[in-house]
Amino acid sequence: MYVEMKNINKTFDGFQASKDVCFGIEKGKLAALLGPSGSGKTTILRMIAGLDSPDSGDIIIDGSRVNALPGSKRGIGFVFQNYALFRYMTVADNIAFGLQVQKKSKAEIKTRVEELLELISMKDLGKRYPHQLSGGQRQRVAFARALAPNPHLLLLDEPFAAIDAKVRRELRTWLREMIGRVGVTSIFVTHDQEEAMEVADTVIITNQGKVEQIGTPEEICLRPQTPFVSEFIDSTRYEAILSIK
Ligand SMILES: Nc1ncnc2c1ncn2[C@@H]1O[C@H](COP(=O)(O)OP(=O)(O)OP(=O)(O)O)[C@@H](O)[C@H]1O
Ligand SMILES: [Mg+2]
Repeated sequence: MYVEMKNINKTFDGFQASKDVCFGIEKGKLAALLGPSGSGKTTILRMIAGLDSPDSGDIIIDGSRVNALPGSKRGIGFVFQNYALFRYMTVADNIAFGLQVQKKSKAEIKTRVEELLELISMKDLGKRYPHQLSGGQRQRVAFARALAPNPHLLLLDEPFAAIDAKVRRELRTWLREMIGRVGVTSIFVTHDQEEAMEVADTVIITNQGKVEQIGTPEEICLRPQTPFVSEFIDSTRYEAILSIK
């Protein structure tokens, strides 16, 4: 397993946001954390990223326990719940941000930014500012910015929440393809069942701070293991998706 969460507990002012959370994700896979609002999805991502610490339990990345390692040293890229591009920076400067923090050379930064603009099909838009982009384009830039420093692990918190249904559909296919091409282990949060079933290799169902079930989309749909999962997942909706996977 590339990422492992072992018996993670996290309390905020007496409220238990994570309850004995355990799961593992294999290298190169795309996992979805799927669950209702308030079920603890963002809390899990933030602990993996080192933005919050668990009260107990182990966070293992690539075989090492990282609980005490600062987030900046964990080799993680993060795309936040509301894509926060830097408004006063161009697209190219947004993408370059993490590389500048790492004090990479100008030449190296230029090459990497061009590579990423190409990857997200926005080659000629590097000089634009975020307000001159569509929502989908902004989201692609947020993705490129997170990927720029070559993270080993990519975390995406509801990357498409603010985007309308049609573009959202296109973007998730796009994301799946990009992640496959780059080969980076990724975890994305969603409360959209269809999105999780369509793009993820592994789906982790969260409910009230607990993990209810982990499995492939097919396993989750066809063999729900708890009353919550069978209630929550409307498996008839996914027959078409599962048959093409
Ligand atoms: N910093 C905090 N202080 C107090 N409570 C918090 C804090 N962060 C999260 N919580 C609580 O922990 C629970 C889980 O929150 P979390 O943000 O992880 O949910 P989520 O599954 O990401 O929800 P959503 O789908 O709405 O984004 C919620 O009840 C929330 O109010
Ligand atoms: Mg959240």
